[in-house]
Amino acid sequence: MNQEKVIVIDFGGQYNQLVARRVRECNVYCEIYSYKTDIEQIKAMNPKGIILTGGPNSCYEADSPTYTSELFDLGIPVLGLCYGAQLMMHVLGGKVAKAPVREYGKTEVYVDKTSPLFADVSETTICWMSHFDYISKVADGFRIVAHTADCPVAAAENGAKKLYAIQFHPEVLHTKEGSKMLYNFVRGICGCAGTWRMDSFVENSIKEIREKVGGGKVLCALSGGVDSSVAAVMLAKAIGEQLTCVFVDHGLLRKNEGDEVEEVFGPNGPYELNFIRVNAQERFYSKLAGVTEPERKRKIIGEEFIRVFEEEAKKIGAVDFLVQGTIYPDVVESGLGGESAVIKSHHNVGGLPDCVDFKEIIEPLRNLFKDEVRKAGLELGIPEKLVFRQPFPGPGLGIRIIGEVTAEKVRIVQDADAIYREEIAKAGLDKSIGQYFAALTNMRSVGVMGDERTYDYAVALRAVNTVDFMTAEAAEVPFEVLQRVMSRIINEVRGVNRVMYDLTSKPPGTIEFE
Ligand code: XMP
Repeated sequence: MNQEKVIVIDFGGQYNQLVARRVRECNVYCEIYSYKTDIEQIKAMNPKGIILTGGPNSCYEADSPTYTSELFDLGIPVLGLCYGAQLMMHVLGGKVAKAPVREYGKTEVYVDKTSPLFADVSETTICWMSHFDYISKVADGFRIVAHTADCPVAAAENGAKKLYAIQFHPEVLHTKEGSKMLYNFVRGICGCAGTWRMDSFVENSIKEIREKVGGGKVLCALSGGVDSSVAAVMLAKAIGEQLTCVFVDHGLLRKNEGDEVEEVFGPNGPYELNFIRVNAQERFYSKLAGVTEPERKRKIIGEEFIRVFEEEAKKIGAVDFLVQGTIYPDVVESGLGGESAVIKSHHNVGGLPDCVDFKEIIEPLRNLFKDEVRKAGLELGIPEKLVFRQPFPGPGLGIRIIGEVTAEKVRIVQDADAIYREEIAKAGLDKSIGQYFAALTNMRSVGVMGDERTYDYAVALRAVNTVDFMTAEAAEVPFEVLQRVMSRIINEVRGVNRVMYDLTSKPPGTIEFE
């Protein structure tokens, strides 16, 4: 694809994926590369602009990440953010030092509106600052175009060479007019036309897949989650019956979820593909019998999943391609793209490729962020219910049942969770709460129903709000909604006589209740 592109060079800061997302919101395609990427490689990509990100280091220290000054002579516009801004000055002969006053948080910034960076930005604007070093002297050829009460160089530019440095973080939402500044850079200064659109991405991807696959056979492991579903539909549209999707129902899905996946991908659904549903519930339950330790349960479910898939793959025989629903944060976080190496290994079912006889992997969503995957899903006509599905762990209800997993407990948690989700949706809260579900505690206690003494399980309700799933706060679900859920669960779900609401934030808790 000969797409106009902006390159983000990653110096290890926490907001780096956000920078790329904001650029894409300007309809400009953008990729993240580590600062270790060779300049020849950057040049070969022929970017329309380059953005240097923030990072945790001090650029004047010997071992800190740096970049060759050649980057600033390519004639390509460069924008440095925070560490990137300081590095630009440092490399070009300016001065960076420990700031007399460390700035952190929302800060009033006074901008010079004659800079193209600040076109249509208010003269005094709120920006997000987070720095202990500052630019004490700009490099030759630069002029100061923004300052704060404590920071003499909040932004600087060398208009002739199209080099721009910003001390604050335009990519975070706390910077009120940050998106406008990034728009000004990529669309104004870099001159990008803004042709990156989801419909053209989907169309181009389908064309590329067709060319790549030719008459080959393709195998896809379908989980019913957003990523694998979008990948599968894209493949189905591209190559139809050359695609086989294997959906392993491990009996640990939410209520009716297996059937919902079958409705979309099965023979009565809108796509022409080979769909194989493996009903492996009993197999999983028997492997899980007597197992109570959560990590052990995760391992068993993961391994059994691979065994089941392997058996199916053997029946199908050798294929040419295996589809994976890898998305861009997976690529960046596994250290392949950018520099911030947060590896969430427990979130991935490893080992799948090894059990299939295939020649090549296809990852059609490899360059998309999660919200873009959802947009692609809608573009492909996948039902909203599936596209906006909440995160659901691979081991499913197996880890939302504390203690031993049994078919009976799966029924209880499925029914309770379905009621909870139904009532949350009825109350109009389904779009505003980050993630919510019911879990089954391993506690039984005494209650009274009618005239009878009961000795039944307690269901725990969880609802959290979260920005990035790394931290979370319990959501304030209105009391009357909780009461309604409680009363329905106790009346409708056999085996439950208590309902509790989990108030724990993350940390110290996790979002899952396992
Ligand atoms: P925790 O419980 O670690 O969860 O706070 C953070 C987010 O990750 C989801 N999660 C998983 N997702 N496979 C997944 O695909 C898993 O094994 C898994 N475990 C947790 C969880 O639902 C939450 O959104």
